[in-house]
This record gives sequence, structure tokens and C-alpha cells, in this order.
Amino acid sequence: MCGIVGYIGENSSKEILLNGLAELEYRGYDSAGIAVLADDSIFHSKAVGKLANLRDKTKDFEVNGFSIGIGHTRWATHGNPTELNAHPHLGEFSYVVHNGIIENYKEIKDSLMSEGVKFLSQTDTEVIVHLFEKNYKEIKDEFEAFKKTLKSLKGAYAILLITKSQNNKIFFAKNGSPMIIGTNSNELFFASSDAPLLGLANEVVYLEDGEYGYALCDEINLFKDEEKVDIQKNPLVGDKISAQKGGFRFFMEKEIYEQSEVLSDCILGRAMDERVDFEELDENFFDDITHIKICACGTSYHSALATSYLFERVAKISTNVEIASEFRYKEPLLTKETLFIVISQSGETADTLEALKMAKKAGLKTLSICNVDNSSIVREADFSILARAGIEKGVASTKAFATQVMVLWMLALYIAEHKKVISKENLASELKAIKHIPKLCVVKDSLHQKIRRLSKRYLHGHGFFFIGRDIFFPLALEGALKLKEISYLHAEGYPAGEMKHGPIALADANLFTVALMPKSLHYEKTKSNVEELSARDATILAISPEEFDLADDFIKTTSCEHPMEEFFEMMVITQILALEISIRLGNDVDMPRNLAKSVTVE
Ligand code: M6R
Repeated sequence: MCGIVGYIGENSSKEILLNGLAELEYRGYDSAGIAVLADDSIFHSKAVGKLANLRDKTKDFEVNGFSIGIGHTRWATHGNPTELNAHPHLGEFSYVVHNGIIENYKEIKDSLMSEGVKFLSQTDTEVIVHLFEKNYKEIKDEFEAFKKTLKSLKGAYAILLITKSQNNKIFFAKNGSPMIIGTNSNELFFASSDAPLLGLANEVVYLEDGEYGYALCDEINLFKDEEKVDIQKNPLVGDKISAQKGGFRFFMEKEIYEQSEVLSDCILGRAMDERVDFEELDENFFDDITHIKICACGTSYHSALATSYLFERVAKISTNVEIASEFRYKEPLLTKETLFIVISQSGETADTLEALKMAKKAGLKTLSICNVDNSSIVREADFSILARAGIEKGVASTKAFATQVMVLWMLALYIAEHKKVISKENLASELKAIKHIPKLCVVKDSLHQKIRRLSKRYLHGHGFFFIGRDIFFPLALEGALKLKEISYLHAEGYPAGEMKHGPIALADANLFTVALMPKSLHYEKTKSNVEELSARDATILAISPEEFDLADDFIKTTSCEHPMEEFFEMMVITQILALEISIRLGNDVDMPRNLAKSVTVE
């Protein structure tokens, strides 16, 4: 997601900002920009695409002596990735960069426009700078105007604002999006993570949600709820790679831990209190659609399969899911009333892209759910919804899967609402469950330690079966895929009720069964299937909120009412299990043998 940098000092702010943004590239972006204030003149520049474009556009700009500056890499949420929508956003005499989403921006924008304020972009961010300037004109005090602006904003943000009327200060605020201040003896830096600060700052201040203030090159003034806050400085240690990994052993591990945060990003501005909103889709999007076909590969296929249950159950629309490489050659019968959805983390998967082209050629309406804006699949599809997982580096997909499932779940509700097949009460309870998911995906240290200890018992044997019913069957497929990708052990996902039709013949003490036993969905039926395996001496690792006597190992989950809450919690557990088994086997978790992050060949 977006990245933010800021600088106050005597060195070249242009270079420091551009280098800082380069360190944040891993977060993903589609445009970038900087603004530098030296004396009374402001220079600013923005460019779409890679940072090299911004470097090129700013090559003739030099700043000598003291300056202040802000920079931003933008991952589009409100409005397309264009230069006008890129940050910094400008008012008459101030500039702002922002990470997060201002949920009430429409109200603020309407009110400002009714007073004659002109907007240049489609973003939520631009309201901040105009509101600040309006407040400043009334109050004539920059910090008071900034505070008043913050009070009007709802949503998540990390904000940096500079204004010509105070050419030595940066105003900042953090609420729900990351922001760190770095210092040395005579310079001050802002960044979204440690990486841009390494080699520049000696000490850092990690801002907490709700904190705001203003900074000079040698002074930080920090506040929360109008009270001054004592500054806690920490030494900055580490190298660039480990900073990018945030102290985790592998990117995959970091990405598992990031799921809570990216899921919050994914639902921001989409899961509202009483409805789902996708600004990417127009009002009439589902008119005349009577069927959904979803096409994808690998993990993305599993997210589609899991949520196909929801499309039928909740949105009452017939849905089928196909593996893209199979779909391409089966001479499929396609009807115009079908919405064709493709899912892809990378947006470059050759089979999925070709399937999409086939559907378009047949005249179907197409929608992509993708994590990389401007990718081939996004460009090809009629409509696209971004998953907002941020860049995923581990080849084994984790947080991209989590956000795909979340987008599809919200889409099922969006359709249900559009078709008027869901009551207000049910929609409200689904939305409540959605908002609970980020909390459930926070990885508790005790859970991780337990799985780490347990993993040593699962390094041999003649194979794993991950079993589950309903939406937990695709989750079992995904759990098995994660394990085989990074451990190189044989693992299969299977519908729990189908084991007795063949695979149970394999059961013995060396067959490891990972049983997904949610309490909220078909518990008794799944339990019977697991008992059948236990009776044949299979080794059982049960994951459930209910104690299960026949389990050899047991991981207790939270007792939740909504099956999707149980789904996300079990997803995290299966990911950590795969990770820990792979680490014990000494494998390269992030770059498993024979696999690539983007599969651009057939
Ligand atoms: O980029 P995509 O989501 O289209 O990729 C599809 C599969 O190649 C991908 O999900 C693959 O299965 C991953 N390695 C899963 O961890």
C-alpha cells in the first residue's frame, strides 16, 4: 500500500525523499510524487508508474541549503492511477501526502465544493489540504488549523502536511496507518517503515494511533487528545534487508503477520455500517447477470472455490469455478448473462489472462480481482477490484489469498443487496463479522509457539490429508497446497465426507490428517468423518474450538458464530504450520524450488 516519507534539514531533500521512496517500493505503488519547500518557493512533481519516471522528471531540480519536503508512493484506492490523483495534493499554499482512507471524504468534499473550493483529483486525500487551508484562513494559526482538520476526518490515516506560511515545519498525524519519525543531530525524517531511515537516522520515534503534532529539524512536538506526549526515542538498528523483512525470518512469515493489517485496508471504505460499497463498480453492474463463472489458478482458484459457496448461499446466484488451464481448452459454453470473474495475485498468470481474453471475445462482462494495479489482467478486464494486500514477496501466497477471499465475500454481499435477497439484519451481521476478521488474524505469540513445537512431529510420514467440509474444503485444499509448496512433503486437500470413498484406504499411523473442524458449520458431520480416520489409526491434528478426544494433537480456535470467522482463523493456523515445517526441514521458505511468483507461461 502507499508509502510516505518526509525530510527537514540542510541536505538534498530531493535525493533523500526519492531514495526513501525507493526503500518503500516493496509496499507496492502505481504513482509517486514529492514536494519540497525551500525559503518561500515550493517545487513539486508527480509521475505515474515507476520511481524512475519521477527521478527523470525531477532531474533538473536542485535544492541548496535548508529545506523541508514530503514524498509519497500511491497505491490507487479512490480514483485511477493518474498524475492528478498522485500525491502530494496541493491547495493554494499547502501540500499534503496521506496513507489510508478518509471514509467521510464525500461529505467534506461536497461541503467544500459548495463554498467554491475547486478539486483537481478524484482522491479522498485532497479534502485534507483544502480543509486545512479553509481552517487556516479562519483561525490564522497553522497548528490549530491542522488540529481542527484532523477532528473532521474519519477513517485511517498517516498524514504529512507542509505549508508556505511555516517553511520550517512539517505537520503530521497518525491513526491506523504506519508512521515513524527518525532523527539525528540536525535532521529529521518521516517514513512508513524503518527501511528508508537506515543509514540516515540514529534514533526513531514510533508513533501511536491518535498521535499528531509538528516537527522542526531538531524538535518534535507530539500530542494526543490535546495533551502533550513525552517523546520515546529508540535506537535504530538493523540492515536494509532485515528492515524490509521487519525482523521476521522470512517474507512469508512477515506476510502472514501482515494479514490483519491488509485485511483492514481491504475492507476500508468498502464494508460500511449497513452496506458494501465498491467504487470500482457502477450501479447497473449486475443488471441482466444471472450466472457467475470464476476462473483462476492455484491459491487464487482456492479463494474462488471457497467463496462460490457464498455466492450461491448468500447472493442466490448460480456460480461455478474453473481452473484456468482447464477452462481454456474445454470449448466452454458461454452465455452473455454470465459475469466472468478472474482472480490473480500477480495479474500476469498466462492461463488466467488467456481465459479472460476468451470470455471477452465471447462478449461476457468481465471483472478481475487482482493485487497488482496496471497488470495485464487488470488492463484486460472491463472492471477491476484491487485486493489491497500490498506487495507479496513470498512465492507461497498468504496475504493475497486472505484479501481475495475478503473481496469475494464482500462482493457476494454486494450482489445479495443489489438483488434484494438479503435482509437488513443479515447484512448487518455479515458486516459485523467482516469487521471482526482483522482482529482474528492477529497472530498470537502463544499460538505461533505452539505450532512451532508441534511441527517437529510432522516431518516424516507418507503424506498429509487436509480435510474439511463446505467452505473448509477449499481451505483444506489451500492448506495442503501451502504445505507442499514449501515443505516438499506430499499433501492433499479433500472433502471430509469423501474420504470414505477411497482415500481412507491410505489411513495408518503415518498418514497425517489435519482436520478443520469448525463449530459453526457441520461440526457433527465432520467429527464423524475424522472418527472414521482415527479408527484406522491415522494421526490426527484437529483444529477446532471444541475439544476433541480422539485427536493426537489439538489446536484450539476461538468459538465464533460466523463460519467465515472460523475460516480466517484456521487459514492463519494452516499457513503457520506449513511455515514451521518448512523451516525445520531447512528449506528456502520464500523461494521454494521449481516455483515462480508470476507464472507467465502456459
Ligand atoms: O498470481 P496468481 O494468483 O494468478 O497465481 C496463481 C498461482 O500461480 C499461485 O496462486 C500459486 O499457486 C502460488 N504459488 C500459491 O502459493
